[in-house]
This record gives sequence, structure tokens and C-alpha cells, in this order.
Amino acid sequence: WGKQDARVRKQRLLVVANRLPVSAVRTGEDSWALEISVGGLVSALLGINEFEARWIGWAGVNVPDEVGQRSLTKALAKKRCIPVFLDEEIVHQYYNGYCNNILWPLFHYLGLPQEDRLATTRSFQSQFAAYKKANQMFADVVNEHYKEGDVVWCHDYHLMFLPKCLKDYNNKMKVGWFLHTPFPSSEIHRTLPSRSELLRSVLAADLVGFHTYDYARHFVSACTRILGLEGTPDGVEDQGKLTRVAAFPIGIDSDRFIRALELPQVKDHIKELKERFAGRKVMLGVDRLDMIKGIPQKILAFEKFLEENPIWRDKVVLVQIAVPTRTDVPEYQKLSSQVHEIVGRINGRFGTLTTVPIHHLDRSLDFHALCALYAVTDVALVTSLRDGMNLVSYEFVACQALRKGVLILSEFAGAAQSLGAGAILVNPWNVTEVAASIGYALSMPSDEREKRHRHNFTHVTTHTSQEWAETFVSELNDTVVEAQLRTRQ
Ligand code: G6P
Repeated sequence: WGKQDARVRKQRLLVVANRLPVSAVRTGEDSWALEISVGGLVSALLGINEFEARWIGWAGVNVPDEVGQRSLTKALAKKRCIPVFLDEEIVHQYYNGYCNNILWPLFHYLGLPQEDRLATTRSFQSQFAAYKKANQMFADVVNEHYKEGDVVWCHDYHLMFLPKCLKDYNNKMKVGWFLHTPFPSSEIHRTLPSRSELLRSVLAADLVGFHTYDYARHFVSACTRILGLEGTPDGVEDQGKLTRVAAFPIGIDSDRFIRALELPQVKDHIKELKERFAGRKVMLGVDRLDMIKGIPQKILAFEKFLEENPIWRDKVVLVQIAVPTRTDVPEYQKLSSQVHEIVGRINGRFGTLTTVPIHHLDRSLDFHALCALYAVTDVALVTSLRDGMNLVSYEFVACQALRKGVLILSEFAGAAQSLGAGAILVNPWNVTEVAASIGYALSMPSDEREKRHRHNFTHVTTHTSQEWAETFVSELNDTVVEAQLRTRQ
């Protein structure tokens, strides 16, 4: 969590997100191991260091005892992190239930859970109550650490109720809220039983941000159609109070990746990987094992490609890193078995005694190994069915200055709006189209690869996470000043 420069007085920023950038594992009664968390939000925010920042969130572990809570608080303080302690029941109802079984699929156009409609309806109320309770617990911790003048930046679908809780504490707090997922069309959002309450809570913020203009537009139409409020070019107005709504496309700390490629251990990794995959083109997928990432669709497209192009069968390998996530949610457990079954079948079908076409890993890689893998890749496959932005596509581009590999990118990822001109855009549901794009990417002439890479590399290295955070926070500061001026007039 960015180094702070003591000589420059920086604005204090409280970043509030469900998950801290480090997850804790208990190693003794009062000892802890801290591991870096996965996910786009963490990878974007890690590089930000122009603020005097503190991160408030859940450490991903149940700590029922006071000794544990005290020692973990101390360990996290060294990383400028402040924990919110959530007990098992809350985690079950709020995180597994309302956040990841209801909001997450809905916001990614997968609809409300279908399987057992009655059970879902019954548990809905209790999960929403837990969601509000958890948001209130986050607000309590923010309020405890808040100092006048601080900027409070709330993140993601877990904390839609937080802006309201914070403004109820102190209406003068500068509060921004940013969504890292898509915001769906208002016709999807209106199916959510708690649709109005959530919109109203978000509108309590001073500034509301999204990755793309489309998501911002969907949010404004949800407010106008569902709440009957007025949408203006600047945002949403309710009884004279304007909530600014705008798009702030996120980026990565590209220098961190570029610098890593110069490290001796990364160079060693690159050499090993090149030897390991000698004579074959490397295709790569890096995803959390989540239904929105379209992993089965991607693998089926790869199978179709091998089926139709026997000549490539021993000349290409697909490395798929599928990082386990939300493993207590049944949908995610089902996905894991489904992916294993498909990979097993394809490897059985096209493998030989010495090689398999798909290397599937059920775990994350450390940062250096990941950079090396990005650097040796010829074609990256990002086939999300929907994705707020997708920073894997950015990370891949940042590591490709030498190889100039090709990015195949879903048109349903937010990144398609920024990297679309350099990538090959695909509809991930269309397995035939993706298979054809794989063929095209693998045999693309070098001048075309270079041109496409140049476009993407320029974007990724100029639209960084630093710039994203600075723009959002300065816009938030300005919004609050403008609102004060308006009320004085
Ligand atoms: C996405 C979400 C993040 C979340 C991450 C990892 O990127 O937008 O808010 O932290 O996934 O998911 P998890 O449930 O493990 O925190």
C-alpha cells in the first residue's frame, strides 16, 4: 500500500472497500501472516501513493476473540490498513448471500438466482438486513477514524448503503462512491427488490463514479425511471441536491510491471518458461474462477480451434490460471467442477504421452511469476461474459513491449472501450467466432501485431491507476466546493 513521502503534506484519504488489500491468515494466538488479496480493485489501488491513505475493510478472516482482534489490528496498522470485523453469520448473509449471490450476478446480467426461487425470496429479506448491518459496521469504523477534511472513497457493490450511513453520521463528510462492476440497464436493476433503497443510499454520496460512460448512463436512467428523479448532464438531482455522476476508467500501475521484467528472478522465470514451451505458441487466460469470466466458453472455443486446425495441435498450449474465489457460494463450486470436467475431456482428447493442450492451474501465481508468464505469451484470451473493466488485459499489454502479443478481448468487458482498437474484439458466447479469432491471432503478421500493441501500450502506460485516483479525488473535492457555493448563493 504505496509508500508515503513525509516531506509533502498529502490529503488524507480513507479508502473503504469490502476487502483489504491484504488477507490475514492466523498463524498463532496473536500472530498473523498477511497475503496480498486478488482482484481488480486491489491491483489498481495498490500503486496509488499521492495521498496520505488508509484502507478500511475486512481482512477475509473470522476473528471472534479480543486478543486476536487486537493483534490483527496492530499487524494491519503497519500496512496502513484498518480492519472491520465481520462475524461468520454476517459474512454468510452479507458477503456470500446478498453481495455475491444477488448483486454480483445481477450486475453482470446473469439475473437474480433462479434455482430455488422460493428459498431465494425467503432469504432475501434477511440477507438485505445483513447487508445494511454490515455497511453500518463499515460506517462505524470510518467514523471512528475520520478527521475533518478527509476524503472518504467507498468502493464497489458491497458498500452501496455506506454513503447514506456516512452522511447520517456527518453530512459534511466528503463522500465518493465508485463501482468496479458494470451497472446494468435499468430494466435489469428494477428486478431487484431493494432497488430504490440502494439507489437512494448511493445518491447520498457527493460523487458517484463508474468505469464507462454506459454504466454511468444506466445508473442515471435507473434513478430517473425507478425513483422518478431528474437526470442532468452532470448527474442526478433530488430536491435541489445534485449528486455528480461520471465515468472514470481505471488503469494499472504499469511501471510496476515494466520494472519487474528487468529483475533477475523474472528474467530467470522467463527463460525457464521459454524452454518449457519451446516450439509452441503460448496462449494465456488469467481469471478469478468466476462465472462472469466465461472460462468454460473460452476453453470450448479453444477446443473448437484444435478440432478445426489439426496442424496446430502440437504447436500451441493454453495456460489457464483460474484463481479460486468465493468458494462458499454454491454457484462457484459448480463452476469449478464444470471447468475441471471440460479441461479433463479436452486434454484426454488432444493430449499425447508428453504434452497436454491445456495447462490449468487452480491457484494464483506470485507477482514475478505472473509477469514472466505475461511476457512469454503470444495470445491473451479475455472472454468475460461481462466485466466492469478487466485489468488482466492491461497487465498483459504492459508486459508485452518485446513480444507484442495479441489480445483477444470480450466486447462485454469495460476494457473493450479503451483497448478495442488494438485488441481483437469478440462475443465470448460465439464459440465459432472466438475459435476463428484464435487462428487469426496466432498467425497475425508482425507489422499488424506491432501496430495493435502500440495502440494498447500507449493507452495502458498513460491511463494509469495513479491518474485515475487523482482525477476522481480532485473531482470529488471540486464537487463539494461547487455544492457549497451553490447553497451559499
Ligand atoms: C472484483 C470485485 C472486488 C473484489 C474482487 C475479488 O474485482 O470488484 O470488489 O474484491 O473481485 O473478489 P472477493 O470476493 O474475493 O473480494
